[in-house]
Formats: sequence, C-alpha cells, structure tokens
Amino acid sequence: MKTIRWGIIGAGGIAERFANACKNTPGAELAAIASRSLEKANAFADRFGIEHRFGTYEDMAESDKIDAAYVATPHGLHGPNAILFMNKGKHILSEKPITVNAKELQKMIDSAKENKVFLMEGMWPRLVPGVLKLLEIVESGQIGEVKGIEGRFCYEMSDEPDHHAFKPEFGGGSILDVGCYCLSFASWFIKSPVEEIKAVADIGENNQVDEHACYLLKYENGAMSSLTSAMMVKKPSDGHIFGTKGRIDVTGRFYAAENFTVHLYDGESTDYHMPFYGNGFEEEIMEANECIRAGKLESDILTHAQSMFIMEQMDAIRKIIGVKYPQDDQ
Ligand SMILES: NC(=O)c1ccc[n+]([C@@H]2O[C@H](COP(=O)([O-])OP(=O)(O)OC[C@H]3O[C@@H](n4cnc5c(N)ncnc54)[C@H](OP(=O)(O)O)[C@@H]3O)[C@@H](O)[C@H]2O)c1
Repeated sequence: MKTIRWGIIGAGGIAERFANACKNTPGAELAAIASRSLEKANAFADRFGIEHRFGTYEDMAESDKIDAAYVATPHGLHGPNAILFMNKGKHILSEKPITVNAKELQKMIDSAKENKVFLMEGMWPRLVPGVLKLLEIVESGQIGEVKGIEGRFCYEMSDEPDHHAFKPEFGGGSILDVGCYCLSFASWFIKSPVEEIKAVADIGENNQVDEHACYLLKYENGAMSSLTSAMMVKKPSDGHIFGTKGRIDVTGRFYAAENFTVHLYDGESTDYHMPFYGNGFEEEIMEANECIRAGKLESDILTHAQSMFIMEQMDAIRKIIGVKYPQDDQ
C-alpha cells in the first residue's frame, strides 16, 4: 500500500485535529506543514513531530515532500490555496465549506481536472460510522419514505468578533460555517433536487454576515427540511429524520451522528451508539488516500457534484437573506 504524504496548509485550530487524525491513519504520513510564518510552522511541526516545515504556502506547493495537501485556512482562501497546490500536481482535501460560492467551486473543479489531481471537500461527517448506519437504516426502508429533516447547528462566539467566520471576504456567516453541515445532512437522506427555498436571517450590523439563519427547503419529491445555523445563539445541536413509518432522533452533533434512537410508529424503539474511529477525521483521510491510490479525481461518495449541490443551495440562501461576498462579483 502506497503511503500518502500529507502537508497541512495553515497552522490554525482545525489543523491540529487533522494532524492528530493523520498520525492515527494507516497509510498516511504527516510529512509537512506550511504557515505564513516559519516560526509558527516550526512550533506546529515540533508539537506533532513533522519533518518538513515551510514559511510560505508557495514553498510547500513547490516541494516534492508531499503528495497531497489539506487546506485549513479561512473558507475565502480555500479556492486560491487549493488551486496553487493543484497547479503543482498536489492532491487536495479542502476543509468545509470547500469554498465560498459556486463560481469559485467550478474554478477548483476545473483545476483538478486540468491538473489530473484529486479534489475532495472535507465533509467528514458523511463518512463516520453513525452516519453510515443512519444511511443503512433509512435505505432499508425501516422508517418508510423520508418526508422531513430537522436540524440545527448553533453556537455563540460573541467573544471573538474578529474571527474570520464574521468576515465577508473570508466567506463569513453561520450558513457557510456550520449550515453546510445541516444542508449536507438533509441531502444524504432526501435524495431529490431542491424545488423551493425560504430563508430568514439576523444579519450582524458590524459584519454584514448572517449571525443566525433559519431556512426551509422543499424538494421535488415533496419532502421538506427545516434547518438553522447560528454563531451568536446557543441551541442544542439535535437533528431528526421523519419517515412515513417512523422517525430517528439524533442527539448531540446530529450531522456527525454518534448517538441516536430509531422510533418505529408500531411502538419499537432502538438506541444506537456508534463512536468515531478516532477524532472523526480519520475516515475522510482514509477515503482520500484510497481515491488517490486508485488515481481518481474525485470520491464516489463526496463527489464534486455533491459539493456543488450544497454550494448552490448556500448561494441561493445568501441571495434571499442579502449576504454578499467580494468573490460573488469576481
Ligand atoms: N471540519 C471541522 O470540523 C472544522 C472545524 C473548524 C473549522 N473548520 C474549517 O477549517 C477552516 C479553518 O478554520 P480554523 O478554525 O482552523 O481557523 P483558524 O484557527 O483561524 O486557522 C486558520 C489558519 O489559516 C491561515 N491563514 C491564512 N491566511 C489567513 C488570513 N488572512 N487570516 C487568518 N488566517 C489565515 C492561518 O495559518 P498560518 O498563519 O499558519 O498561515 C490560520 O492559522 C475554515 O474553513 C473552517 O470552516 C472545520
């Protein structure tokens, strides 16, 4: 089995979770870290025992020490950062959301095809055991036809007003930051094109991004989802799948289900506990590794089309609520 040598772009918060997972994934080597500051790269590398350190992203893109790069920068930079590396023949696993709008995503997909490299969005929850179990249960027909999804991912970070998640140029707002999980979750269980979207949002006065947003989607098959995301309001992160014969209640992080109960309307209820393999990122690294070894340009599960499907929904919701990014006019 060929070992895939990974390099991380950006020594920030989520990079640490990836680093831990990469070191815990068979067939993966955490080979390099790139930061805008060599001092920061060195500190990160020392913490995780990484051999190669780069003080610019360009230097790591040029290097022959990595096969693939994990994009861990603010969303507004995912596109340019990924394209920089793809142009140098490196495969890409990009943090969610893969970028900030459909136009930018198309440029990334075109670059992957032109350069014949693999590109996948790090929508890690789709690959964890609990979500695979939910899919098995729903696809077996146990709860009948799925008619509705509810989900909310809401947190409060008023103590970090300068965080990139509040800045339009970085793709700020709750919809891109965490609503992408809600929309993705709904799309895994309602396999139908979207017919209609309604949305409302509380837009921050100082930042002009959605700090709290609620959206309703009606799909062509008649099913509906009711989803909420927030960065300034705390709510439980629970989710529900409603079928004609039963429902599933997911407690905790519903979008990356670990604990859930299947209630059948004939009276039977079953509890499930399905922990992650590690911290939840190992599964996406394994998927990327397998695809890269097989010479694929995209995953069969986390496809380019799936990322585009969700990105177009986020573009449509932003248009309704009036949140605009500089990249929308480029
Ligand atoms: N999958 C998940 O569960 C999950 C969880 C949290 C976040 N994320 C995603 O991961 C990405 C990064 O989020 P994070 O929370 O890790 O952010 P973060 O802690 O702020 O780290 C982002 C890193 O990007 C680099 N960067 C490059 N240009 C920058 C700029 N102009 N301003 C700020 N940072 C810049 C910096 O690294 P250097 O200074 O080293 O270059 C910085 O440390 C986001 O897209 C977010 O949506 C995913």
